[in-house]
Amino acid sequence: MNVVTTINELRDHINSLKSEQKSIGFVATMGALHKGHLSLMERAKQENDVLVTSIFVNPLQFGPAEDYEMYPRSLEKDRKLAQSQKTDILFAPVVDEMYPRPMFNEVNVISGTDVLCGKSRPGHFNGVATVVLKLFQLVQPNNAYFGQKDAQQVAIIKNLVKDFNIPVHVVACETMREEDGLAISSRNIYLSDKERLQAAFLYESLQRVMRRIEEGITDSQLLEKEMNVFLKKHTDAPIDYAQILSFPELKTIDKIAGSIIIAGAVQFTKARLIDNILLHVNEMEGGNKYVSYYDEI
Ligand code: PAJ
Repeated sequence: MNVVTTINELRDHINSLKSEQKSIGFVATMGALHKGHLSLMERAKQENDVLVTSIFVNPLQFGPAEDYEMYPRSLEKDRKLAQSQKTDILFAPVVDEMYPRPMFNEVNVISGTDVLCGKSRPGHFNGVATVVLKLFQLVQPNNAYFGQKDAQQVAIIKNLVKDFNIPVHVVACETMREEDGLAISSRNIYLSDKERLQAAFLYESLQRVMRRIEEGITDSQLLEKEMNVFLKKHTDAPIDYAQILSFPELKTIDKIAGSIIIAGAVQFTKARLIDNILLHVNEMEGGNKYVSYYDEI
């Protein structure tokens, strides 16, 4: 594995891979690697000749009151994990390498940011889109792998690629979970023991909504209310959102039908956790719904 910290060095590697016509699979991360990241790398390696992984805690996507300074950083451990997944090139630049001067331009995401995480994290998705655009320019991947856990992020990156005609195929991958269902996240280490037990109820709340839809309930407001009540009952943390939207449009809906996202975010003391499930919902005789997971987003 080549560990690369400068853009010049990265470009040299990419140029020679391109001249050899190698296909490039890319996984962008902010480090503190866990099983979720590793699953993206495994898939990228399977589907491409070479795997490029990046580790960069992107200051642009953190709000002033967010956890940029205390975001977990563990490069030495990450290096070993990236190597265990057969990463060919690990790109780990410092901030000055990516942003040697204040940016003169930034991507402004104008659709799909007024809901879910975009609503409570203003500017966050502009920062994500800006760094992902830079990384795509540098790595020039054929395929780029992102986790469905951050479904709004995937939708925004898919739109970025479409709007700017970037020749990258964006692949959304399944959310990796702990045994009790909690989505694996770099921020889970900040949960107290009590919060860790409560955190599993976020996924449980999504599944309960799914079961209610299977029973035939189609009133999305009622289901959102029930999800809120359930989360309030099982966690002490403030609920940021409990929402059901059309997907990938991310529009509010009155009646559950078609492709939807059920999403929740809970603000624990030191960690804001998010999770979602995507469903296709079709009517069956007798009012019940046929519900299936929606995995190619
Ligand atoms: P980060 O939070 O490090 O996540 C990197 C990638 O791993 C994202 O695509 C994310 O959706 C995916 N991921 C996280 N937890 C996962 C899980 N439990 N199962 C499957 N995939 C999971 O997302 C970012 O970094 C940044 O915004 C980034 C895209 C790198 C831009 O800075």
